[in-house]
Amino acid sequence: MHHFLLYIILTSSLISITNSCFFTPKWNVYLINDTPDSFAAHVMSKDDDLGNHTVPPNANYYFSFCDRWDRTSQFDAEFWWDKKYQCLGVVNDFARSKCHWLARCYWLVRPEGFYVSMYNVPFPRPEWTFVKSWG
Ligand SMILES: *[C@@H]1O[C@H](CO)[C@@H](O)[C@H](O)[C@H]1NC(C)=O
Repeated sequence: MHHFLLYIILTSSLISITNSCFFTPKWNVYLINDTPDSFAAHVMSKDDDLGNHTVPPNANYYFSFCDRWDRTSQFDAEFWWDKKYQCLGVVNDFARSKCHWLARCYWLVRPEGFYVSMYNVPFPRPEWTFVKSWG
């Protein structure tokens, strides 16, 4: 019985150390609205559809995931804003190259387009990399 309890305690602390992911990083992704109007964002991967979410100005949509063992999880997002539309990979090889040190990506959605950074610093700053304009 005591061994069993010890096992439970060790296992649960191991799980919290690894942020509830088993031996792969937990990624955190934020889609920040830096426009004067709401946008809608629809995030999906091959396996998961996270749904369509409305994000008011100055708010963000957040999601997290446990990376695949081979670090190849990918997420795409569709955006609707002010009669404009765009689709982009919010977790792909390029976003990973910008965010991998912290496994954390901030996407800044602005009237002129989309920027990515691993730090949520004020805009404009060199940390923000311009990725795409609206379609
Ligand atoms: C998501 O919501 C926006 C805004 O309401 C809408 O224009 C768009 O068609 C919706 N997309 C999907 C896939 O439901």
